[in-house]
Amino acid sequence: MTQTKVKPAEGKLGILVVGNGAVATTFMTGVLMTRKGLAKPVGSMTQYDKIRIGKGADKKYLKYDEIVSLAKLDDIVFGCWDVYPANAYQAAIYAEVLKEKDIEPVRDELEAIKPMKAAFDKNYAKRLDGDNVKVGLTRWQMVEALREDIRSFKAEKGCDRIVVLWAASTEIYVPVDEKVHYHLADLEAAMKADDREHIAPSMCYAYAALVEGAPFIMGAPNTTVDFPAMWELAEKTKMPIAGKDFKTGQTLVKSGFAPIIGTRCLGLSGWFSTNILGNRDGLVLDEPANFRTKEVSKLSTLETILKPEIQPDLYGHGNDEDTQYYHKVRINYYPPRNDNKEGWDNIDIFGWMGYPMQIKINFLCRDSILAAPLCLDLCLLSDLAARAGRYGTQRFLSFFLKSPMHDYTQGEEAVNHLYQQYTMLKNAIREMGGYEADEEID
Ligand SMILES: NC(=O)c1ccc[n+]([C@@H]2O[C@H](COP(=O)([O-])OP(=O)(O)OC[C@H]3O[C@@H](n4cnc5c(N)ncnc54)[C@H](O)[C@@H]3O)[C@@H](O)[C@H]2O)c1
Repeated sequence: MTQTKVKPAEGKLGILVVGNGAVATTFMTGVLMTRKGLAKPVGSMTQYDKIRIGKGADKKYLKYDEIVSLAKLDDIVFGCWDVYPANAYQAAIYAEVLKEKDIEPVRDELEAIKPMKAAFDKNYAKRLDGDNVKVGLTRWQMVEALREDIRSFKAEKGCDRIVVLWAASTEIYVPVDEKVHYHLADLEAAMKADDREHIAPSMCYAYAALVEGAPFIMGAPNTTVDFPAMWELAEKTKMPIAGKDFKTGQTLVKSGFAPIIGTRCLGLSGWFSTNILGNRDGLVLDEPANFRTKEVSKLSTLETILKPEIQPDLYGHGNDEDTQYYHKVRINYYPPRNDNKEGWDNIDIFGWMGYPMQIKINFLCRDSILAAPLCLDLCLLSDLAARAGRYGTQRFLSFFLKSPMHDYTQGEEAVNHLYQQYTMLKNAIREMGGYEADEEID
């Protein structure tokens, strides 16, 4: 074992969630209920997973907090921002994800979580219409107001450290523009010039978090921290960033299932994924400009796992130009289902001598139930990364993300393969714990 310089997780960890909707309230309620011994944090790697340390006769399997110092659930303090003024109790009831019996025991604590006014621009999410917003501010003034929010929260609640997690609505797609998004100075100039086209409100949250010394996690597919100017800010402030888009239902299945096809050298001619969901997220995504952001994020998964340029016989046919299998993703807003999303995947594969076969996957999932443990893990592990002095894009967190950030300016590819991502996660924990990284099969 080598010596490490990870600062211990002492004192309170403030988790400031942007958005107080279905995901955020399911996350917060679950943590508070677990703390009281009334629920189990199922699906959370930091609470359950065990990593092998050592080899051969010396090997042992340890939980993450036995390898590295992690914040305890008892030390978490929640705060949030939202466009709507409902407190976390009211928002949890409104979301209809959890039954009242699973919310009532922590009602007092949830009622005390009152959203701060949101940095919001209706042009970025047209279907939202709340009045709990910071009014009449330029983008730079938004940054300053958010910084003040973070500082006040930290002081009032006596927090030692803060993590900011975006679990708010998906914004409209903001294409990366070299003139604004490549250099920090240009980004700051655009914020000061109140350039509303290129600066999404989410970028103001991220900027504010980083300069206040808080890691920032992007749980939606927004491009917020996915460009060089933000990477520069993360380096300058020595803060971790992670994103983007929680890998919950369909994409989790895709990143775990595609390796079956690839490993077995079967062919793929098409993969059609469709969903119905009826929560507020579905409503926002019903707007084409917002769906575009999600579509880009969901489409990226397969292409790095099943590569036509490496296996043209297997993956080089199927779409218009016959250069690659056909890959389509659809999300349909269907109110009766609320948070209980249903996803269908139709996979057209082919085998020996090109004979076609089909696989159908029908996942009746619960969106926020799958997202909540990811929120917890991303927050605890980003806080760990900050204490370990790791800054910039945290690739080891790709495991939790649908469209992992990577340096596309240098031609770097994202790792989407679930089991490669898991190896990266385990090795980062091992390294931060002072053990050697390895790839031995468990
Ligand atoms: N649940 C999943 O499986 C899953 C998976 C991947 C990503 N996501 C993403 O997580 C996010 C949250 O999902 P949800 O189901 O909780 O949605 P939701 O609509 O229930 O909650 C989002 C909340 O964010 C608020 N909001 C929007 N813009 C804001 C701003 N600028 N500042 C502060 N608050 C703002 C909205 O008012 C709303 O209350 C969405 O972007 C969704 O795409 C969810």
